[in-house]
Parts: sequence; C-alpha cells; structure tokens
Amino acid sequence: MGEGISDYTKNIVDLRRHMWLEGVEVELRRLIWQIAIVGKYISAKIHESNRKLAGLKNVYGDDQLALDRVSDDIMRNKLQFSGFVREYASEELEDIVKIGTGKEKYIVTADPLDGSSLVDSNLAIGTIIGIHKDSVLDVGRKTMVAALYITYGPLITMIYSAGRGAHEFVLDREGEYVLSQENIRLKEKGSIFSPGGLRRDWMPEHLKFVEQLEKDGYKLRYSGGFVPDINQIIIKRGGVFTYPALKNSPQGKLRLLFELQPMAFIMEQAGGQATDGNEDILSIKVENINQLSPVYIGSSAEVQLAKQMLS
Ligand code: F6P
Repeated sequence: MGEGISDYTKNIVDLRRHMWLEGVEVELRRLIWQIAIVGKYISAKIHESNRKLAGLKNVYGDDQLALDRVSDDIMRNKLQFSGFVREYASEELEDIVKIGTGKEKYIVTADPLDGSSLVDSNLAIGTIIGIHKDSVLDVGRKTMVAALYITYGPLITMIYSAGRGAHEFVLDREGEYVLSQENIRLKEKGSIFSPGGLRRDWMPEHLKFVEQLEKDGYKLRYSGGFVPDINQIIIKRGGVFTYPALKNSPQGKLRLLFELQPMAFIMEQAGGQATDGNEDILSIKVENINQLSPVYIGSSAEVQLAKQMLS
C-alpha cells in the first residue's frame, strides 16, 4: 500500500518536535521556531524580487527596498513581538537596539540576508542568527546559547544548534521544516577549500597554506556566499573556508558577531573548528558590533594546519 498523508505526518520529525525531543529549553525553542518562520517570509521576498529582475516596478510603482533591508525589517518586527528577545543587533543597523520590555531572556544577532548581491545571478544566499543570553559584547563562548543558518538555494534548508549537536532540516512543500540529518559530524579531514580574498593581497604564510592544500589535491569551491560555502563544508563533512588577513585589511572582511561566531558555534557542534589563525573564533572578545576577523573554519585537520603555518 502506498504511503498516505497520515503515515507521512506520523513519521516525520519536524523542527518543533525535534527541539522538544532534544530537550531544548521551551523559550529557546519557541524563539528558534519563530526565526525559522521568518526564513519563510524572507524566501517569499526573494521570490518577489523576480519582478525586479524582470525589470518591473512593484504594484505601487515605488522603488523597491533592497532585499537585505526588507529582510531585516521582517526579522526585527517578528522578534520584537516574540516575547523572548530584549536586544537585537543586526548587520543592517548601526547599533544594538532594545526591543521588547527588557525582561526577555535573549539577545539575537542577525545577518538577515547574507550575500544579497548574489540574488540577480540566482546563486544561493542565506540568513545567519546567533542567540545570546548575556551581552553580545563579550566572549562568544560564554554568551552564545544557540545559532542557526538558513540556506535559500534550490531547496530551503536550515541548520540549528542549541549546544547539543548540529541538525539539518528541509522546508518541505507543506511548509514544514522536516529533519533531514541529525547530529552531523565532520570527518577529521575534507577535500574542498574555499579561499576568500585576492591572491595578490594574501600574506605569505596564508599563500603557503593555500599552496599546501592545492598540492594535497583539495578542490576549489567558492561561491561568494558565506552561507552556502560553509553549508557545503558541513554537508560534505569536511574542508576549509578561509577569509584571511589581507595586506590592506589585516582583519579580513567577515564580521565576527554576525557571521563568524554563529558559524563557529555550529561548526564546533559538528566536530569542526574555527580560528582567526591564532585564537578560536568563539574565544575572541567582541569589542564592537562591526568588528572583523580573519577566519579559518572547517574540519580539524585543515584548521590545525592553518594554525601551524600561520604561527
Ligand atoms: O560578507 C558578505 C559576503 O558576501 C560573504 O557572504 C562572502 O563569503 C564574502 O562576502 C565574499 O567576499 P568576496 O566577494 O570578497 O569574495
């Protein structure tokens, strides 16, 4: 007998059920669930942007707001009325903003739409979220309690970690986030690398590191989107992404609070590592919300090799 709808719903583990089974604290799981819903709204906005790609104005004839701004508005509005968030820091805003009554449990950092410049070429993009219990201007390892990212590609997928492993969900046609991979574990060593920055701007030690990977037969995989590039390393169970110190930008390009810490949290939960070449990404104190940092993130062998070659 074929599988009917009721069998299907009986057998799937959706995001809410998974977090409940994992024992994630109730307020945290409600917050993660609400953020996952925002992912659906953002994806609807990405789809709407096809009007712009087709050279059309929106129905009112106004100029359309940039997608990253719209995504930020949606995220902030949703979190403001969630009942769980007292402060919100976004890559789109100048400063941390107080939302809610001030008594709520969590502080959220968001890169609501990372890689939005890739939309017109129809490449994958993403949302990156960090959830903290104390101030975000501190050491991530002390304050972060959960992180997640959503990849908007041919499929919409989400990986979250609340400190008990990293788990992947796929948004199905019924609008449900369905568990696809539980407790993802990276291998010790992978076979792909994603090197950011121009080769002519790399420091000599970094150049040597990349040459070593090339010599060892690592395949180049770089899309220009941090979320899909990291997602590829996690789903393929290994490899390394780097955005190093550059000659004219010693702190590299990527933001510690909005991009690197949440990904480092998830990567560690999947058995990988993340460093700036010297210190773990999650051990660096965040002094200001726009702080940048070089990064080497992925499976252990490559991150250790980077540390060795950079020291
Ligand atoms: O920070 C934005 C971002 O687009 C990341 O998603 C990506 O990893 C990086 O910049 C790409 O930078 P570049 O264009 O210098 O390769």
